[in-house]
Formats: sequence, structure tokens, C-alpha cells
Amino acid sequence: MNRPKATPARAAALLVAALLLSSCDNPANEAGAALYREHCQACHGADGQGFKNLYPPLAGSGYLRGAPGELICLITNGVRGDIITADGDYNVLMPAITRLDDAQLSDLVGYLSDRWAVADNTSNPLSPAAVAAFRKACVP
Ligand code: HEC
Repeated sequence: MNRPKATPARAAALLVAALLLSSCDNPANEAGAALYREHCQACHGADGQGFKNLYPPLAGSGYLRGAPGELICLITNGVRGDIITADGDYNVLMPAITRLDDAQLSDLVGYLSDRWAVADNTSNPLSPAAVAAFRKACVP
């Protein structure tokens, strides 16, 4: 028989390949990633790190934990007011981002929580219908 043997080197190569594959963006989320780059990245940074005392970091933000309605309202209404985080003090206007439809918000919020939410979040994808319901409930 001429089958390749499972040598340690081969096993290591397979492991590296698996790690490389799993670190690639999930293609299902590519839409969300593109929306992030287009609508958020200029202020919040490619790695969600923000800019100290100007734009708060998204990585680990409480908005990405559990209360998707608040995040939807924040994106669609914008926000102004004092935000104090462990990393800095923020009080600059975030403009309302009104051009995203429900399906786009669903992709975007899924991307944000997959990428930056802390462990205890509910990273269930939010359906466009759920987004629409949260949107209706936003106080303008
Ligand atoms: C023009 C710059 C700008 C853009 C574009 C922008 N933001 Fe913001 N964002 C801000 C600022 C400034 C604040 C802080 C507002 C304050 O101090 O009240 C903020 C706050 C936030 C917060 C609250 C963070 C916290 O922990 O309290 C979240 C979440 C957020 N933005 C998400 C987004 C998302 C998602 C997008 C893209 C759809 C986006 N932002 C686009 C400037 C921006």
C-alpha cells in the first residue's frame, strides 16, 4: 500500500492548515464585514480599537453584550453624551447611520458580536424581522 503515514510532521501541517482556515472570516459574515468597513471603521478602527478619548472601542463594549435592541437604536439614531469606559472618556457625537436596511443591520450586528463581544454574549444571529421589531421600538 502506498498510503501516506500519519507522521508527526504531517499532523502538524494539518493542524496549521486547520488553524489558518478557522481564522479566515466566515464567508457568511463577509457582508457584515464589508458593512463594518464602509460605515464604522473610519471612526472605530479596523480592529474595533477606537481612538482614545474620541471614538470608543467596540471590542468588549457593553453594547455588544446581550441587548441587541440598544445597539440597533444606537446605530440608527446615533449617540451623544458622556461615555466613560476603562479606556477613556468619550463625549463626541456619533451621527445616526440611517442608510442600512434590516437585512444589512442583521449582517452587521452579527459580525460585531461574533468579532468583539465578550464571552457571555448571545451571538445568535438576529433575523431581519427581529431587527425591524427592535427598530420600531427605538425612541427617536
Ligand atoms: C463619525 C464617526 C463614527 C462612525 C462612522 C461610527 N461611530 Fe460609533 N461612535 C462614535 C462616537 C464619537 C461615539 C461616542 C459617542 C459619545 O461620546 O456619546 C460612538 C459610540 C459607539 C458605541 C458605544 C460604545 C460604548 O461602549 O459605549 C457603539 C456600540 C458604536 N459607536 C457602534 C458603531 C457602529 C456599529 C458603527 C457603524 C454602523 C459606528 N459606531 C459608526 C463615532 C462613530
